[in-house]
Amino acid sequence: MAEHEDTTDPKRGATIEDYFEEDRTFPPPEGLAAAALTADRSLFDRADADFEGFWADQARELAWFERFETVLEWDLPFAKWFGGGRLNVSYNCLDRHVEAGLGDRVAYYFEGEPGDTRTITYSELLEEVCKAANALHSLGVERGDRVAIYMPMIPELPVAMLACARIGAAHSVVFGGFSADALRGRIEDAEAKVLITADGGWRRGQPVALKANVDAALSGGAASIEHVLVVRRLGDAAPDTAMTDGRDVWWHDTVDGQPAHCPPEAMESEDLLFILYTSGTTAQPKGIMHTTGGYLTQVAFTHKYVFDIHADTDIYWCAADVGWVTGHSYIVYGPLANAATSVLYEGTLDHPGRDRWWSIIEAYKVSILYCAPTAIRTFMKWGTEHPTAHDLTSLRVLGSVGEPINPEAWIWYWTHIGGSRCPVVDTWWQTETGAIMISPLPGVTTLKPGSATFPLPGISAEVVDDAGVSIDRGGGYLTLSRPWPSMLRGIYGDTERYRETYWSRFEGKYFAGDGAKIDDEGYFWLLGRVDDVMNVSGHRVSTTEVESALVDHPTVAEAAVVGALDATTGQSIIAFVTLISGVEVDAEHGEALRKHVATKIGPIARPKTIIFTDDLPKTRSGKIMRRLLRDVAEGRDLGDTTTLADASVVEELRNRAAAQPGEE
Ligand code: PRX
Repeated sequence: MAEHEDTTDPKRGATIEDYFEEDRTFPPPEGLAAAALTADRSLFDRADADFEGFWADQARELAWFERFETVLEWDLPFAKWFGGGRLNVSYNCLDRHVEAGLGDRVAYYFEGEPGDTRTITYSELLEEVCKAANALHSLGVERGDRVAIYMPMIPELPVAMLACARIGAAHSVVFGGFSADALRGRIEDAEAKVLITADGGWRRGQPVALKANVDAALSGGAASIEHVLVVRRLGDAAPDTAMTDGRDVWWHDTVDGQPAHCPPEAMESEDLLFILYTSGTTAQPKGIMHTTGGYLTQVAFTHKYVFDIHADTDIYWCAADVGWVTGHSYIVYGPLANAATSVLYEGTLDHPGRDRWWSIIEAYKVSILYCAPTAIRTFMKWGTEHPTAHDLTSLRVLGSVGEPINPEAWIWYWTHIGGSRCPVVDTWWQTETGAIMISPLPGVTTLKPGSATFPLPGISAEVVDDAGVSIDRGGGYLTLSRPWPSMLRGIYGDTERYRETYWSRFEGKYFAGDGAKIDDEGYFWLLGRVDDVMNVSGHRVSTTEVESALVDHPTVAEAAVVGALDATTGQSIIAFVTLISGVEVDAEHGEALRKHVATKIGPIARPKTIIFTDDLPKTRSGKIMRRLLRDVAEGRDLGDTTTLADASVVEELRNRAAAQPGEE
């Protein structure tokens, strides 16, 4: 999820200047293109010729209980897709595959962090979902209610989501790393009736209790919760799990004995499927709403074509957490709608060893891997000996999501994980967009490392200048100029905020909050959130570009760049840098890096200060917390750090920042 930073705004009147040039290109590998689901421009042509007709075609790939009568009703900024249609998401993800004879196909290979495994077929998943749906009914959940879900990455998490979808209740998944306060706030905002959780999960070999957080959340409010349904994941490793009489029930007592059949509700296309909270510019997170028909249409379409899914042979692994939108769309709904076989992994990158991921890929013969650049850069830091110790030849497509991928990380991923034969699809999208918007198609697109390439068929992305005028070359603001099926339908309980946040900056266009540039060949390059764009002496310089230049240096593993207030130049560039193991940290090295950036981009981009650190502060989802780094750089008080992976990093950074004189 994004630590969406203040989008209060970049100064008007300037354009983003970009200096970094990346000119390597990678056409689709021949073998892959020959067997790809699409290897030409026909999908683009169809969408260009008839945008609504194109999306209607994609929607017809789903099973509808009642056909839709209209494709799009657009009353800016409110869209209705596939009006009059009725469908059920869990039916589309499960029953229809079982009815088509695919019941024995594996839906999930679950790998627990301690090494326990479960193989779940589509028939078994359908049964589990029906039982859980009946259990929710027995706890008083009805169509139109909200259910909060706060769980580790175990199979009961997708089961719980699909059970909600089956009976027409909207889920609100709260990432398991959030605090009790954050959980309470989200439950209260959505007025959830039931909370589904677990006694805990495993992280780096340790049991992490969750239920205690639930109790803390519920003791201070969240009065709408009538029942808590608790999965026993830790068992004896969490002996003290307290259960409140009359409120809390165990999953195995409540779900296992239910009938294995539960008729799916016929939902309206625009009925609420889920709410997912994401950080905004105020302290109050935004409950992003996604609905049924359009969302499922676009996640199924994008999952199929962006990853070139051959569902009968591919083993697909999206290594995100289901608690974020990537997990919703590309661990649960997209892959299941396409009858794909996925790996579901509970744990961290490095437990018990730094080769855990590569051992999973080898064991399950994973053919498609989808993960975040931050993971890739961590692996770079650890060295190539870990992946090379495993057979990764099953891989054929690699994906990247969540932040700009710098060319060096891209090339490392391509070379050391993909064996120089797997296209890297850099996918740009957001919690709000619901599905991938800008991305290569592996059998069609010639790749440029660091570029998300082009808008997908049916998507109108435009880069605009300060005045909102579309530009076809150069830097500006990324906008979406036509509605799309999986677009957010609003912010739960706050229509005005929806309009204000996304639709007020540029008339008639959705403002994504990201900077982007279009190069001479029309490729899109994402430059990070616009507030991550610095203004140094009146020049706009992208943090991402400076980071790319730093990581391009052979000694740098990871870098985060922020603009700190500066009395003379407006902002000055501060770089937090993690070196690869074994490299000496000294002032001379700092100078070498500053020079390197100046050479790569231009003197304007030379960081004023380089702060060496062993680790960067990240949210649990792996995003670098730039706002916090800015605060460190500017010596301000730090706000809430509960989403930090390791709070001690902050202290260390603060000390180092205080000890660093910087350049005068
Ligand atoms: O800044 C963009 C960045 O992540 C933001 C969306 O974050 P979130 O809603 O948490 O969703 C993350 C997973 C889809 C965007 O505004 N972002 C996401 N993907 C990319 C990216 N930035 C550059 N390149 C990407 N591929």
